[in-house]
Amino acid sequence: MAGFYPRPPTQRLHFDRLAALPLRRTAVSAPILKTRTRLSEVRYEIRGELARRARELEAAGRSLIKLNIGNPGAFGFRAPAHLQQAVAGNIAQADPYTHQQGLPAAREAIAAFHRTRGTPNASPERVFVGNGVSELIDLSLRALLDPGDEVLLPSPDYPLWSAATILNDGVPVYYGCRPDHGFLPDPDEIEAKLTARTRAIVLINPNNPTGASYPRALLERIVAIAARNGLLLMADEIYDSILYDGAPFQPLAPLAGDVPCLSLGGLSKVHRACGWRIGWAVLSGDPVATGGFHHAMDLLGALRLCANVPGQFAIGAALHGEDTIAPLCAPGGRLHEARRAVIESVAASGHLELVAPAAALYAFPRVVGAAAEGFDDHAFALELLDSEGVLVVPGSSFNVTWRDHFRVTLLPEPDVLREVFARIDRVLARRAATAAGARRRGAVA
Ligand SMILES: Cc1ncc(COP(=O)(O)O)c(C=O)c1O
Repeated sequence: MAGFYPRPPTQRLHFDRLAALPLRRTAVSAPILKTRTRLSEVRYEIRGELARRARELEAAGRSLIKLNIGNPGAFGFRAPAHLQQAVAGNIAQADPYTHQQGLPAAREAIAAFHRTRGTPNASPERVFVGNGVSELIDLSLRALLDPGDEVLLPSPDYPLWSAATILNDGVPVYYGCRPDHGFLPDPDEIEAKLTARTRAIVLINPNNPTGASYPRALLERIVAIAARNGLLLMADEIYDSILYDGAPFQPLAPLAGDVPCLSLGGLSKVHRACGWRIGWAVLSGDPVATGGFHHAMDLLGALRLCANVPGQFAIGAALHGEDTIAPLCAPGGRLHEARRAVIESVAASGHLELVAPAAALYAFPRVVGAAAEGFDDHAFALELLDSEGVLVVPGSSFNVTWRDHFRVTLLPEPDVLREVFARIDRVLARRAATAAGARRRGAVA
């Protein structure tokens, strides 16, 4: 099981959650319900223990700056007006279930968008609309995996990918995307981790949590690996047009050609409509090779009847209407300036390092120098929350072995981010002073 990281006990979140509930035994005592054993391997700390601690502090009257979730609506962003109108104008048509793969017009809009991008043979029949990309990640892995099948996942990953692999009886095998390599994958490492059980390679591009955007030549090498080994490529491209300073985005499907490829996108991020729960998956590659998988996706889609219908009416407007994300990412735009605030704050700090995010909604800084001595990202995040009222996500939440990173979202106003980094620096300066004191005492002893 090469690359499978052992998980520390703090990750058994369902037990933590139980402890957080006000539980009282009833008069008739029933046997304790057993839950699925493999849940003990699953983690989603973005909404986990630290977020619960934040709620406790808020309930006690503390005001916090919460940077844990990439939720545009929570930071004052609105879905564009033409998308809202498309939903409102069609609400009277939104009562019935749709086809399990989605409304024909929405699927045609997605297929047309993919055809312009160069996805081969993109047609409405090969499009699946889901309740967010989240549902489609789960559904597609359920369609693919038998117990013990392996999925190559990036480390760091977006942790739902690991969770869904595990809960569909698969085995996550991680390939590293390290800061000293610009958080890019190494195709040689991917190839070295293949076994007879490998079924798919997952790419998150642009990447959450690192903000990396993968170059074409790198993607071509990964496509070649999938082609040689009969693997499915799974491309999570939910951040596909959130790009800064001219960073390119190369969609995977056009490079994959006949190689089976599932490309995922949605309304949550680029179109700032997370709560509408709309995502899509486009299947490309040789129709004969992908036929069984297509049927499995359709069957699993049918079992959950259909995706949320009102939001599906916004898909055409989102993909073929006005581009509202580019101005936010251009100089002077809110996301661009937020990213600049983070880059400048890190540059001014003596305790942090950052691979500047080229894309997406996050920065993933690393703690360096004296503050990094004996550093534990969880303990740091808890201290930052308790002492400075700032909630970040520890880097180890993203299935990495390192303990010296943390993730912030770029969604707050730039000034809020500057304030956040001033508070982070205060905590790190205290830690650096403590480490220096301990070193001095050690030298004297
Ligand atoms: C990489 C990645 N994939 C998928 C999702 C889930 O998106 P959705 O809201 O479409 O379920 C997220 C959400 O943050 C994400 O960051």
